[in-house]
Amino acid sequence: VIYDYREIKGKVSWQNFRKRNFSHWRYREFFPAFSDKGIVSLGEGGTPQTFSRFIGKTAGLRLVFKNETVNPTGSFKDRGTSVEISRALELGIRHVDCASTGNMGASVAAYCAAAGIRAKVFVPRKTAHEKIAHMLAHEAELVIRGRDYNAALALAERDYRLYKTYLMGDYPYRGEGEKSISFEIVDSALANGYFPNYIALPMGNGTLCRAVWKGLKELKGVGLIKRLPKILGFQAERCAPIVNSFKAGAEHIDPVRPKTLAAAIAVGNPLDGLPALDALRESKGVAEAVSDGEILRAQKLLALREGIWAEPSGAVALAGILKLLKMGHLSRNDSVVCLITGHGLKEPRFY
Ligand SMILES: Cc1ncc(COP(=O)(O)O)c(C=O)c1O
Repeated sequence: VIYDYREIKGKVSWQNFRKRNFSHWRYREFFPAFSDKGIVSLGEGGTPQTFSRFIGKTAGLRLVFKNETVNPTGSFKDRGTSVEISRALELGIRHVDCASTGNMGASVAAYCAAAGIRAKVFVPRKTAHEKIAHMLAHEAELVIRGRDYNAALALAERDYRLYKTYLMGDYPYRGEGEKSISFEIVDSALANGYFPNYIALPMGNGTLCRAVWKGLKELKGVGLIKRLPKILGFQAERCAPIVNSFKAGAEHIDPVRPKTLAAAIAVGNPLDGLPALDALRESKGVAEAVSDGEILRAQKLLALREGIWAEPSGAVALAGILKLLKMGHLSRNDSVVCLITGHGLKEPRFY
């Protein structure tokens, strides 16, 4: 989605933003236009950005957690869903299809319930019971079929073509909503007198990575920041198609069969793999894979030492930061914002 950035530039300033509530919609000039009445919001965004109390100090790093687990349905997905469903409502859509590893489905189910839209969600067979219960609570129609996310996606796309519904998921409007993470990160950092060198995030479809980078570039484009943080993108070793391509210097993505326990990011053939690769390269960032053991250790450390309980995929960025520290890629002077993307209650099976 492309905007008239000259017009936006004339309207936005940090001062003006701060006259509004600290929430996703604080930055609405950067979203597709909606009337106030057309916005479907459950209070997404405005999430805490807190300095690490233990892990950062021990590692000698300015480490900051952006805690996305406190969004209305427990993950960052609500930012994109709010924009996508607002758009669907504006278009008069009554039925949507969505493929998901679980979190997007729960988010879409909740926002559809609020908007009076029917949601049909396709999830792979091994989706956590807690996520399924969440979707059922909002009475989404559920299709639990397929070996993995890409199999569920093929079914959702077929349904969409057959019944001419509206496809929700990792498509452009979702990315437009997820950009607000970048706006909030920079907004909070500047208010606290620092600027992050790095933003660390997990990658499944790569949409979050793409969106965070687009948001940062838009801020720079309208003169709200002068330099850009680098993106640190992480995947699970047993499902790392984007990281593999990054390391190989490839211009394409070779699909893999996902085997990781980090179910929310188990995407073998990522929809936004190429834009995510571009974001990592353009930002001069790093992509790295972490083992399932490293992910579970990071999840435990985060819960035990920082008081934040994430699902395994939600702790992948921290696992990646710890790995880069060991590899000597990060140093004491670095400021790193680490995205914690999904709540532990969503997938407690490893406890
Ligand atoms: C908890 C969690 N973290 C990270 C991701 C990765 O996001 P993306 O698929 O946009 O790369 C997802 C996606 O489902 C997720 O649910």
